[in-house]
Amino acid sequence: MKIAVLGTGYVGLSTGVCLSEIGHSVCCIDVDEAKINRLRQGLSPIYEPGLEDLLVKNTALGRLHFTTSHKEAIETADIIIIAVGTPQGDDGAADLSYLVQAAKDLSAHMKPNTIVVIKSTVPVGTNDYVKCIIEEHTNTPFKMVSNPEFLRQGSAVKDTMKADRIVIGSQDKEAALKIQEMYRPLGVPILLTNVRSAEMIKYASNAFLATKISFINEISNLCEAVGANIIDVADGMGRDNRIGAAFLQAGIGYGGSCFPKDVKALLHTADSYGISFDLLKNTISINESQKILLYQKACKVLGSLKNKKIALLGLSFKPETDDMREAPSINIAHLLRGAEAQVVAYDPVATENAKKVLGNTIEYASSIEEAIDNADALFLVTEWQKFKQLDLVKVTQQMKQPLIFDGRNCFSEEKVRACPRIEYYPIGKPAIITGKDEIN
Ligand code: UDX
Repeated sequence: MKIAVLGTGYVGLSTGVCLSEIGHSVCCIDVDEAKINRLRQGLSPIYEPGLEDLLVKNTALGRLHFTTSHKEAIETADIIIIAVGTPQGDDGAADLSYLVQAAKDLSAHMKPNTIVVIKSTVPVGTNDYVKCIIEEHTNTPFKMVSNPEFLRQGSAVKDTMKADRIVIGSQDKEAALKIQEMYRPLGVPILLTNVRSAEMIKYASNAFLATKISFINEISNLCEAVGANIIDVADGMGRDNRIGAAFLQAGIGYGGSCFPKDVKALLHTADSYGISFDLLKNTISINESQKILLYQKACKVLGSLKNKKIALLGLSFKPETDDMREAPSINIAHLLRGAEAQVVAYDPVATENAKKVLGNTIEYASSIEEAIDNADALFLVTEWQKFKQLDLVKVTQQMKQPLIFDGRNCFSEEKVRACPRIEYYPIGKPAIITGKDEIN
C-alpha cells in the first residue's frame, strides 16, 4: 500500500519506519526542512533504540521516503496517517492547531477515496471535527479512521512491531478493513470499534496507567510511614492477574509527552460535559507532590542546601530517551537552585535537550564521575541501566558525604549494605545507614 505520514515526531516517524519495514511504501512529510534532510541521510532526529537501523535499511530498499512537499506525498497515497502533535493548550485542553493545518494541507492534494487516519492523540469528537474541516476544503470523497497509538518512547519500535492491540475506529466498514489489512503483517490483535470509542480508549488507557502510578506512589509513601517495603508490596499486588505487575514501580512521579498532557485533556473533556472526574484530579496532585519528594527528603537530612553540591544522575523523564518533557528532574533542579545548592547533572543522552529547558541554571557533567566528585549528596533521578550498575562503594568514596536519595529504587538492599559508609534513602522502603559515626 502507498502510505503518507504527516508529522515526523515520535509517533509519526516510528509508525512510518515500521510500516515500511513490513513492506509498505511510505512517504513521511514534515514542514521542517532541516529535519527532512537529516532523515534522508538516515539520521534519526530522536534517540530511539533500533529506529535508525530500520530507517537506513528501508530508505536503502526504496520503501521509505521523506519530503517537505504535501503534494508529492499525498497525491498518490492510498492512506494518509496524521501523526502531528496535539500539545497542551493554556486551558489544559489539547491544542488542535497542527491537526487542523494537516487536514487543510491534505485536502488540497488527496485522490478520491483516500483513507484519512488520525493517529495523533485527540479528544473525543475530533475525528468528526477534522472530517468537517476536510469537507469544507474539498469535494473529493474520502473516508476517516481513528487509529490511536500506544507506543512508548524508548521502546517505540518494539511497541509498534509487537503491540498488545491495534484499535481501529470507523463508521465505514470498508475503510476499517483496509487499515486492518495494512497492519496484518504485524500479527497483532485488532479491535474494531466506533470512532468515539477508539478516541476514548487512548485517553482512558493513559489516564488509567497514570492513576496506577499515582496509586503505587501513595502506597509507597504509606510504606515508608509504616515500615513496609514497596518492592515486596508491589510484587505481591502484581502477582494478582486482575491487578498485573506493570506500572507498579513507585518513583518520583510520571512525566513525558503523554501522561501529564493526556490526563489533563481527559479532565478537561469531563469538565466540559459537566462531569467532575475527582480521581483524575487526585492523580495529578499526587504526581506533583511526588516530583518534589527527593528534595524534601534532602532538606530533612541536610537542613540547608545552600552551597551544597548535589549530583543529579539522570535528566530525561525515563531511561532510553532524550526527552525532557515534564521530566521530574526539571522540578528538582528548580527547587535545588532555589535553595542555592550547586547542581551538577549527568545524563547519558538528554543533556543537550536539558540545556534547552534548564539553561545555565545548573552545571552539566560529561561523566558520572565528574557529577559525583566531592558531592554532598546524589539524587538518582532516572533509572538508566548504567546507573543501576554503579559500584556504590566507589561512588560513596568519591563523594564528600556518602548520601544517596534514590528516586527510582535502583539498588538492592544487599548492594547498599555492602558499602562501609552510606546513608541511603530509597522510595517506599526503609533508609539504610552504615558507618553512621563517620558521616557528618
Ligand atoms: C506512555 C504510554 O505508556 C504509551 O502507551 C502512550 O502511547 C504514550 O505515553 P511514555 O510516555 O513513552 O508512554 O512512557 P511510559 O513508559 O509509559 O512512562 C511514563 C512515565 O511514567 C515515566 O515518567 C515513567 O518513569 C513513569 N512510570 C512508569 C513510573 O513512574 N512507574 C511505572 O511503573 C511506570
